[in-house]
Amino acid sequence: MRGAGVARISISIPPNLLKELDDILKKVGYDRSKAIQIAIRNFLTEYRWAHESSEVAGALILLYDHRSRGVEESLTDIQHEHGDIITSTMHVHLDEDNCLEIIAVKGKTKSIKELAERMMKEKGVKQLKLAVVSK
Ligand code: NI
Repeated sequence: MRGAGVARISISIPPNLLKELDDILKKVGYDRSKAIQIAIRNFLTEYRWAHESSEVAGALILLYDHRSRGVEESLTDIQHEHGDIITSTMHVHLDEDNCLEIIAVKGKTKSIKELAERMMKEKGVKQLKLAVVSK
C-alpha cells in the first residue's frame, strides 16, 4: 500500500504503447508510476508554458560569436535589464570564436519568453535553446 499522500488511479492505454513503455523502463530501472508522474509533469509544464502566465524555472542556453561587434555588451545589458528573473549565468569560452552562455531563469513564462526573444534578435547569436520545468 502507498502512503496517504498518493492517489491511486487506473488508466487505459493501447497494448503496444504499454509494451514500448515497459521495454524502456526495464532499461532505465524505474517503475510505471514514476514514468507516469514524469510524463504528467512534463505535460503540465508544456501546457503552462504554452497557455498560461505561470511560474517556471529553467535554463536558457546561448551560443554566440563573441567577435561579432557589440554582442557581449548587448547581452550583458539585456541581462541587467532582466535581473529580476535571472538567478545566475555561466560563461564558457568554447573556442576562438564561440561562447556558450547558460542563464538560469525563474519567473513568469511571459517574462522568460521576452528575454529569450530579445537575446535571439542580437547579431552574433547563433543558437538559443530553452528548457523549463515547473513545480
Ligand atoms: Ni567567451
